[in-house]
Amino acid sequence: MHVSFCLPTECYLFHKTAETPPQKETIKHSVWRCSICTYDNDETMSSCDICGVLHGPLLNNSIYDKKRTANIFDLKSSRVSSTVVGRDEAVKVSSMRSDSSNQSTEKGKHNRLDEINILKNIEVGPPAGSRTSDNCSASVQEGWLGHVDESSVAVNLRSSGKSSLSLMPKERNVMVDDSSSSRNGGEANSLTSNLENISFAAKSGHSNDANPGRAISRAQYKPEKWMLPEKAEQSLTQLNLAIVGHVDSGKSTLSGRLLHLLGRISQKEMHKYEKEAKLQGKGSFAYAWALDESAEERERGITMTVAVAYFDSKRYHVVVLDSPGHKDFVPNMITGATQADASILVIDASIGSFEAGMDGTKGQTREHAQLIRSFGVDQLIVAVNKMDAVDYSKERFDLIISQLGAFLRSCGFKDSSVSWIPLSAVENQNLVSAPSDFRLFWYLGPNLLDAIDSFQPPTREFSKPLIMPICDVIKSPSQGQVSACGKLEAGAVRSGSKVLVMPSATIATVRSLERDSEACPIGRAGDNIAVSLNGIDGNHVMAGGVLCHPDFPIAFAKHLELKVLVLDGATPILIGSQLEFHIHHAKEAARVARISLLLDSKTGKVVKKAPRCILAKQSAVVEVILQEAVCVEEFSKCKVLGRVFLRTLGRTVAVGIVTRIVEEQQ
Ligand code: GTP
Ligand code: MG
Repeated sequence: MHVSFCLPTECYLFHKTAETPPQKETIKHSVWRCSICTYDNDETMSSCDICGVLHGPLLNNSIYDKKRTANIFDLKSSRVSSTVVGRDEAVKVSSMRSDSSNQSTEKGKHNRLDEINILKNIEVGPPAGSRTSDNCSASVQEGWLGHVDESSVAVNLRSSGKSSLSLMPKERNVMVDDSSSSRNGGEANSLTSNLENISFAAKSGHSNDANPGRAISRAQYKPEKWMLPEKAEQSLTQLNLAIVGHVDSGKSTLSGRLLHLLGRISQKEMHKYEKEAKLQGKGSFAYAWALDESAEERERGITMTVAVAYFDSKRYHVVVLDSPGHKDFVPNMITGATQADASILVIDASIGSFEAGMDGTKGQTREHAQLIRSFGVDQLIVAVNKMDAVDYSKERFDLIISQLGAFLRSCGFKDSSVSWIPLSAVENQNLVSAPSDFRLFWYLGPNLLDAIDSFQPPTREFSKPLIMPICDVIKSPSQGQVSACGKLEAGAVRSGSKVLVMPSATIATVRSLERDSEACPIGRAGDNIAVSLNGIDGNHVMAGGVLCHPDFPIAFAKHLELKVLVLDGATPILIGSQLEFHIHHAKEAARVARISLLLDSKTGKVVKKAPRCILAKQSAVVEVILQEAVCVEEFSKCKVLGRVFLRTLGRTVAVGIVTRIVEEQQ
């Protein structure tokens, strides 16, 4: 079975109105439309057939569903695949249409686990070991006055965003202090370095360890021998590679082409894709079809959910996470990207298209770049695609480097960690071998595959206590099984291991593990696995939750102090602003309850106390109150559970880190 990285997809539900777009099937009953994936669902469907989001009554006169787990973690299904996943075919990681799954089954390529249940209407109980934090971070003690009114928090939301411990190799701190931004005139200092600097400052004055349930420091943890990989058993290092970029830049085509060139898609299959794509008048999408498997995606010619595929390079077992570029699916993109060790940012070099991607309000190039950097990804290949459309012009390539390069520096990417590769996915230029088109004679650098092999191997937290944010849950009621899927960010598990399932704070026993669709004896940091659990009610396992070590429970809280950086071009954040709060695979409605300090975005020093708002490119210390509690840790203690980003009106407005858990859920 393949490990599914499913994500709960963002959807605001409403009943269909007259202007519903045409659907290929006649709709007999009344329908309700999902505003994110725009799919019109029959009224008999309790959840979106595409996204899997529940269609239910809205509570409390708000679009926010109080039954958080029902709304946030309602996965329609996961594309849980079979033995062949990773061999020949891409697999969707998100909730999938049943028809596409069926197609796969027909082909004999994927075995769905029996029935994949949706988690519905589960009330989340408070975790054990919860506590109230009574100490404040030294950096923010001043100005913390007054009270917070929680009553007006009401937005809706769900889904994900995190970055992993393993995405932060040691060099990163060095990099942060490196002067890529000062080389850039010091302008728009690295957002990540910013946040990390701030975080370290907070850490130094922080003595917030008063959690009775979490008294043992993670640093004191002594791993058992089996948890550490032995050199001999190490084969290829797994590299999670997120393919991101503006809509239609060619991400899926590039991924499909790469898989085909590397033998992961057979000639026969490719021929089939070509034929089918042509028949639907979408001939140019043949390679993309290998990744865009659902009828909806193919019909619309866009990727909607993250697809996963595998190939091996000389150094890595590469997990390709082909993300959607359309702005409506940024939350889906995030779930893939948050698991990334490195990323390929695909640029459409065509005249006007590169510019559209860079557009501050509509373009996704900038938002994707900012997001992946804020998740801790610092190794980037910029694949300048569709070079055939600009005659493989060096001038065009250089212009893209100069414009985008400056922006990437401002996001905190170090020049030496960014490779620029001109290529054409459609014409197969510079993907796995040197370009054959003479018009690319001027390019003497590595091809795409070589550039992938040049990535530094990700650092893994093998010897830390277990942390696995759950991005998907697979339930098989007939066999009474429940599996939690996700990327192991720290530690290791094996059959028989006891794990603490948060936020239900229930101990379960690991029954078995699967990695890359195959049973495996041990899962270690960096692995994407499905953990089958015994001794737990399936309703207590939910996406957005976390598997952790029983002696090291993570926090569950809704009142948090954050350090945030408002992104360039974003709308200001005010006291009282209602925002979407994303953290690893969870999403909540949040209200900005307090803006305590305005900080110098370069040094982290306090510029002003109690400002009224935070403008674009400013950073600040804020307190947020979430509608419902999430699994969280302070960034200084656990990066993957301490990175957040804030969105509103379909745009990411700020990235940040958790500096203090003001109050845990009891
Ligand atoms: P989303 O996932 O929806 O964001 O799109 P995408 O980035 O995956 O783009 P996709 O692969 O679906 O390709 C979009 C269009 O660009 C298709 O018509 C492709 O044929 C075309 N395309 C992709 N690569 C190239 C290329 O190298 N040259 C040219 N000329 N067209 C390309
Ligand atoms: Mg695509």
